[in-house]
Amino acid sequence: MRDSHSSHFCGIRTCHVRFRPIIGQHRRAGGTNILPGPAVWLTALLAGLVWGIPPAHAQPRPLAPLPEVIPPPPSDQVALGRRLFFDPRLSGDATISCATCHDPQHGWADGLALSRGYPGSLYFRNTPTVLNAALGRFLYWDGRLPADDLPTVVRDHISEAHFMQADGRLVIERLRQVPLYEAEFRAVFGGEPTYGRILNAVAAFVRSLTSKDVPFDRFLNGDTQAISESAQRGLKLFRGRARCIHCHDGPMLSDGRFHSLGLVSEPAIFLEPERHITFRRFLRTLGVPGYRLIRQDPGHLCVTKDAGDMERIRTPTLREVSRTAPYMHDGQIGTLAEVVEFYNRGGGPRPSRDPFLKPLNLSAEEQSDLVAFLETLSGTLPDEPRPELPSYELRSPGETH
Ligand code: HEC
Ligand code: HEC
Repeated sequence: MRDSHSSHFCGIRTCHVRFRPIIGQHRRAGGTNILPGPAVWLTALLAGLVWGIPPAHAQPRPLAPLPEVIPPPPSDQVALGRRLFFDPRLSGDATISCATCHDPQHGWADGLALSRGYPGSLYFRNTPTVLNAALGRFLYWDGRLPADDLPTVVRDHISEAHFMQADGRLVIERLRQVPLYEAEFRAVFGGEPTYGRILNAVAAFVRSLTSKDVPFDRFLNGDTQAISESAQRGLKLFRGRARCIHCHDGPMLSDGRFHSLGLVSEPAIFLEPERHITFRRFLRTLGVPGYRLIRQDPGHLCVTKDAGDMERIRTPTLREVSRTAPYMHDGQIGTLAEVVEFYNRGGGPRPSRDPFLKPLNLSAEEQSDLVAFLETLSGTLPDEPRPELPSYELRSPGETH
């Protein structure tokens, strides 16, 4: 399968890709990559030092409490960004906001298997939570942007045909016709709404969204009562026989790398015309060769065009995971118990499956212990009342702006 594809994947890049994630590509022996040169190793080493990623095949990093977002987002930008996050005027037809899909009531996701997309379209992946997004390594299931580039994610969302389909100039003009926004932008940025300021304010708000008061973090900090005995047994399995920590390590319970679990893609993506159209248009825009024939989400290959990355998906954080069902990049697994059952069977049938996945022979009780552990990774939800949205007040001729 891979061999028959490999000659097609010729490394076309697009402007979406700000840098090529070098470390993920060279980690596996027997891959199709040519040996990287010294510059690549040096960059990989430096990147590893910055994010704390161990070299390939090293011991997993220990689990650790959630770190702080550094530097903290400025509170006045956060307050303005919160309002914009809930404001549908950031979408082309002014009917959906960021919060339509990243809804605080659904753990800042949408509770759907596959995202609904912009009205009139349907998307082909599950909506991830935006909680703790700033603390990961890559954003999106295929890892097409680094997590320290949130303003670009906001820009993509506002302008992409499948998300909010808005022309930035129209959004600016709408906000200029709202005196309260005008006043807030002046107070926060010293001037009127501009596209860059809109993106920065929303990005600051997203950066402010982190888990609070997580039982597992309290446990790690010495409160032995913070999680149940069943969850403690689950933690032991997670680090031990169930081997989850091999990929879900460190403070985010993610190695920030890309793996295939061998899942067969959700058929709805190819049976519902709108989803299939979005899928094809997306792959085509990113320059994925042979996109017409592909019936699997190519995952990280969308970014690297490297045949070895076919179907590899970013290891997601497990923080807040009990709130963000259904699971996986296409929402095909409904509950945490079913996810654990899936790993217990040794993963899915696709040949791309990571060779590390093997049947685990966990008893029913052990499986429910693992689920109990996963449930300790959710904190109290940030108190997020929907902000009031200010109205338009059209300008009289001659008024400034
Ligand atoms: C129509 C639904 C929809 C809307 C509206 C939407 N998103 Fe998303 N968002 C998604 C989906 C789906 C993904 C995952 C896309 C992928 O991986 O290909 C995503 C991914 C993200 C991510 C990356 C999370 C991660 O860990 O990978 C961030 C951050 C984000 N959205 C923020 C926003 C912001 C800010 C807005 C408003 C400007 C917004 N979203 C509006 C559906 C939506
Ligand atoms: C080989 C690496 C690897 C191992 C080992 C592994 N995972 Fe994962 N995990 C992933 C990847 C990659 C995904 C996303 C896959 C996808 O969406 O197709 C994932 C997804 C998940 C999800 C769904 C998260 C979401 O937001 O949808 C859960 C829950 C999960 N893993 C728990 C576990 C548990 C529990 C174990 C141990 C029994 C484990 N994982 C072992 C790599 C791994």
